[in-house]
Amino acid sequence: METVGANGLEGVEVARTALSDVDGERGRLVIAGHDVEALAGRVSFEDTCLMLWDGADPSPEARDRLRTALGAARVRAFEAIPSLGRALETKDAMDALRAAVAQLTAPADESEGRVLVTAGTAVFVAAWCRLHAGKPPLRPDAASPHAADYLRMATGSGEHAAALESYLVTVSEHGMNASTFAARVVASTGSDLVSAVVAAIGALKGPLHGGAPGLVLEMLDAVGDPARAAAWLEAELGAGRRIMGMGHRIYRVRDPRAAVLEKAVESLERRSAPSSRLRLARAVEKSAEELLAKRHPERALRANVEFYTAVLLEAVGLPREAFTATFAVGRVAGWSAHVAEHRRVGRLIRPSSRYVGPRPM
Ligand code: COA
Repeated sequence: METVGANGLEGVEVARTALSDVDGERGRLVIAGHDVEALAGRVSFEDTCLMLWDGADPSPEARDRLRTALGAARVRAFEAIPSLGRALETKDAMDALRAAVAQLTAPADESEGRVLVTAGTAVFVAAWCRLHAGKPPLRPDAASPHAADYLRMATGSGEHAAALESYLVTVSEHGMNASTFAARVVASTGSDLVSAVVAAIGALKGPLHGGAPGLVLEMLDAVGDPARAAAWLEAELGAGRRIMGMGHRIYRVRDPRAAVLEKAVESLERRSAPSSRLRLARAVEKSAEELLAKRHPERALRANVEFYTAVLLEAVGLPREAFTATFAVGRVAGWSAHVAEHRRVGRLIRPSSRYVGPRPM
């Protein structure tokens, strides 16, 4: 079949957004008016939600209101778990999340809906982690910050909450990526927020979008030793496989989120026992970059967000099978903001296609 035009839609402007700016040439990411480096490790996940949802830096009152609302919504989502049937016992965390979120009912007031899907996503993924480990889900602590409560519910310990919070803030929003576009397409038909988020979860699941970090860890396991990195990567590329965590549709330099997350892992290691993971990851990244530069001198293929996501999420104690679903725990903030923005300024998204099949005689 003939490929028609830019069928990855690269370079096609499908929306005007005030939510984030991804500058792929300079490697700069601005979220709600702030450089990602100024947010990660400095502001809470709740503040990031407020900036995305309300378009302004949050007041202390708004911050308290959202923390209380998210806490109460986590408790409600947890209490709804028995009515989900076996949805959360599904083997794949993203399948479980998609099924569980699909059973939410979108409230008429979309600001309540944003809280509901954000709380529900965290509670369902955490419950999946526990069930997957053969343990009962842990009840939310309504008074806890959202990131810390997610980590505690998922792993039984909130010890590395600061690193996890940096991660959730870093991945909260990122331009017109595939899952955000999917959410906006659904919202553009006048459908509800829950349906838009379910579509976004489906898009995020793929390895070319959010499904890569677990695979990055598998790669690090397989390489095992920094000295073996180049030979292992050569063999992968020789077999025609892609190196997970490398390359990006927009960035022509290193993804700024890779640096932010690498730093977060570094400071986590300073506070707890250093592991050999970061050293290995850096060696693999360096080799991969060199080999990809030789193969594709025309296109800079550098580390993307998923590369250090894998190292960070492993270090905070989350199981690798839940990495992509944890991405959703952060990105749901951006999806919800895009749905609201599209409702304000967007139209039905309905591109065209060119028919290249047979014509009736
Ligand atoms: N490893 C090996 N080769 C890669 C590569 C990678 N990670 N990323 C891109 N390439 C190659 C492609 O095979 C292609 O080569 P070709 O022209 O000989 O076919 C060339 O580089 C251009 O890549 P292209 O597929 O056009 O880039 P894209 O913009 O469509 O893809 C990604 C971007 C992210 C999908 C791609 O880089 C990728 O698959 N990365 C690995 C998965 C990953 O990390 N996903 C998380 C994304 S945040």
